[in-house]
Amino acid sequence: MTEDQIQPYLKTKRFGQTIYAFDTIDSTNTYAKLLTSGGCSEGTLVIAEEQSQGRGRAGRSWFSEKGNNLTFSIILKPKIKPDSIGIISLYASLAVAQSIENIAHLIPECKWPNDVLLDGKKVCGILSDGVFDNGQLSYAIVGIGINVNQTAFPDEIIKTATSLSLSTGKNYNRVEVLAVVIGQLEILYDKILLGQLGEILVSWKKYCSLFGKKITIDQQGAVVSGTVITIGDDGGLILQIDGIEKKIFAGDITILNS
Ligand code: BTN
Repeated sequence: MTEDQIQPYLKTKRFGQTIYAFDTIDSTNTYAKLLTSGGCSEGTLVIAEEQSQGRGRAGRSWFSEKGNNLTFSIILKPKIKPDSIGIISLYASLAVAQSIENIAHLIPECKWPNDVLLDGKKVCGILSDGVFDNGQLSYAIVGIGINVNQTAFPDEIIKTATSLSLSTGKNYNRVEVLAVVIGQLEILYDKILLGQLGEILVSWKKYCSLFGKKITIDQQGAVVSGTVITIGDDGGLILQIDGIEKKIFAGDITILNS
């Protein structure tokens, strides 16, 4: 996918105005982070057909079949507190969920903190990296991996991964999917700029079925369980644990009752 193939599909004013398109790269997030050191415009898009070291959350890797999916990063300069970076992942997962609903006519689920699921399986993963300057967030890099046309997955993720194609039986034009997602990212980002974070949270909650459920959350080995109360304004997950409310900012959730 080249810049010339992408540009005609984009209906955005800022997002995707500058595009770095690669056949193979280590990681679009890593490249985007490098770009910020020289200064770059908001909405810059870095996209690759293949990542040799695609990164996931908690030091995991992100596997994506070359030429069948979307792996890209968008560079943002949100004026938010450094500890509110979690809200950026929620915002991005909402944009992807709304895009998938428009494209595939299925209602996806947003799983805190930043997965998008179809049929209970992961169709999209999001990795937000912050770039800090004197303790302030100068850039947020939003890395998005969407499984589009891939129909076979490695054994390790065969039970937990899906794609748009697997869930609908159709094949998708990846540039069209990309343009819808980039468009939705820009629309919702404009709400963030207008201070309408509350609206983003309300919409995100409509795609989330965790509320009231008992879950365990694995924070890189430390496991706690509790009942999900709500999501805080900063994107943190508020749980009731042994009668006490506690806010969690990262971890992998398993639902205990459904
Ligand atoms: C996760 O679910 O663990 C997050 C996966 C994020 C993957 C995307 S693909 C594009 C961008 N570049 C990366 O190296 N990772 C993100």
